[in-house]
Amino acid sequence: MSGANLQVDENGRLRHFLTVEGLHRGLLVEIMDTAESFLGVVEQSVKKVPLLRGKTIVNLFFEASTRTRTTFELAAKRLSADVLNINVDASATVKGETLLDTLRNLEAMHCDMFVVRHADSGTAHFFARHAAPHVSVINAGDGRHAHPTQALLDMLTIRRHKGGFDRLRVVIVGDILHSRVARSQIRALNLLGAGEVRVVAPHTLLPVRAETLGVRVFHDLEAGIRDADVIIMLRLQHERMRGALLPSEHEYFRLFGLTAERLTLAAPEAIVMHPGPINRGVEIDSQVADGAHSVILEQVHYGIAVRMAVMSLAMHRRIPAPEAREAGAEREIG
Ligand code: NCD
Repeated sequence: MSGANLQVDENGRLRHFLTVEGLHRGLLVEIMDTAESFLGVVEQSVKKVPLLRGKTIVNLFFEASTRTRTTFELAAKRLSADVLNINVDASATVKGETLLDTLRNLEAMHCDMFVVRHADSGTAHFFARHAAPHVSVINAGDGRHAHPTQALLDMLTIRRHKGGFDRLRVVIVGDILHSRVARSQIRALNLLGAGEVRVVAPHTLLPVRAETLGVRVFHDLEAGIRDADVIIMLRLQHERMRGALLPSEHEYFRLFGLTAERLTLAAPEAIVMHPGPINRGVEIDSQVADGAHSVILEQVHYGIAVRMAVMSLAMHRRIPAPEAREAGAEREIG
């Protein structure tokens, strides 16, 4: 399920954003650079640019979400698009409508972009395969498979703090097995040339042959975080676990929880990240989550700019230079 050909048009420009897999490094850098230029917009008193004025974006969420859905919504609004939020509870799929019928109906309403989250891997690809030529699909998380905008906002956070990737030791700790975030992060880090990517997890929360993903595997947190520059903590994703994979949350925290004491093993300037939602006292101690090394809330802030970048690039629009912005003009790429 690489999705590479689906994702870019014949000129190599972004059309759908479904997975990091199969994309070129240059495209990831372009998304981050575009997001940087949007950071200025979100800090203005009038937080809007007219790039997607007249476009209709549908947030189609078949799975619960707060952060991701609201940041996609804000991103679309800051690009001046009209936004429709459709949540599964209120949707027709519970009445038996197929995904394809849902898509056709929304297309008949002249929607231009679908942001899709679903518990099944491959749903965003399905939408992209069947979408009308003018429609773009953005994956907001599909099963355990991919969460590419989360990975890109994480990469932007790392780049802004560390300047680059090549000498970095990045460690991802926790429930790797069920994490679409970890899969997308690992691909992005390898594509961007991170010095070393490590994962730390109990055997039961790692995919088989995890090394083949391009990571060094550790089962001991203290060994895994030694000298790390970036520590990414993950939540235990109970909703995707079948059966008991852990003795207890208390035991998990004892072995794999990030405490202030353990953090001293990492590099002195290490940053601590988490895609959220965080579970205090399970994977991370409050002292660390709220401490000086934590950049967790910055990730949320950068998430809006990254989603604005992905949406505008997929619609072939880019932020105008400040003078053009003042004149209310917009410029298309290429
Ligand atoms: C992640 C997700 O939904 O995959 N959260 C998010 O998008 N902010 C991670 C998680 O749910 O643990």
